[in-house]
Amino acid sequence: MIKPFKLGYVDFASKNIEAMEYYYTNVMGLTLVEKDADGIRYLSTGLDHHNIALTPSNESDLQCIGFQLGKQYELKDVEKQLKQQGISAKLKSDARPSLPKLLELTDPDDFIVHLFTNMETPAPHFKENGIVPNKLGHLALGSMDPNRSVAFYNNVLNFEYTDKIGDRANFITCNSDHHVLNISNLGQQVGHPVMYHIAFELRDASHQYKSLDILARNNIPTLWGPTRHTAGHNIAAYHHDPEGNLVELFIEMDQLLVDVEYFDPRPWHEELPMKARHWDDNAAWGIRYEKTLFDFALQKYQ
Ligand SMILES: [Fe+2]
Repeated sequence: MIKPFKLGYVDFASKNIEAMEYYYTNVMGLTLVEKDADGIRYLSTGLDHHNIALTPSNESDLQCIGFQLGKQYELKDVEKQLKQQGISAKLKSDARPSLPKLLELTDPDDFIVHLFTNMETPAPHFKENGIVPNKLGHLALGSMDPNRSVAFYNNVLNFEYTDKIGDRANFITCNSDHHVLNISNLGQQVGHPVMYHIAFELRDASHQYKSLDILARNNIPTLWGPTRHTAGHNIAAYHHDPEGNLVELFIEMDQLLVDVEYFDPRPWHEELPMKARHWDDNAAWGIRYEKTLFDFALQKYQ
């Protein structure tokens, strides 16, 4: 069974690479570990060689999603297992620094997906300045056919369904976090698959306040939140990076107890035990914002 345990990295093609590098190093507080001959910047939250990669380009979009498999996996065996399921994957050597081997495939929306096992962990450590998130938490995709895409991640990579909001968003996970992927129908509104948002986990409420102050000092307005979501119950706040990608900073994400198929109980849960369910809206506190999160994500594509 192929099942990743974490969202390892996200690659962006970047039109304004200097601004993106400044944002990720000085505002977000990641560490630039390596810049290669092609100008690709590899940035780490604290342990791994990279969790974000920025490639200079004429385009600005999501390039690739990397999922890490446990060290017990052999990528050649994974390739065979994928083939048995009718999924073609290419085993690549030395395709990027810190990873001698990776498997490259595409999901039903043609997003490039990498599977890898052992990434180097130079541990540049957590920075003293900037937002400095705990980790890269999840990625939200705008799919052309969310049901088809969810089926792919659940059937091929053994993600588990957690929640759904109307027909808009589907939440799935490969670890204990409520969601590692959010697969929405935003792509249908744009006319092609897009990234909806990328999300980083913070430590606690005071870290969230401090982070939003850091954004304000850098003239980056908080667009939505902080408020508690329904699906996942994370307290989330959203802003744009310099290229209009929607970025979420969150705390208090629900934790899935796989053995009992419910979320670790919290006082703010609407029902106990809190199980996977459908929600009508994404704001637990009943706050209705003038603009929805989709609107903010769509601004980049208008
Ligand atoms: Fe999110």
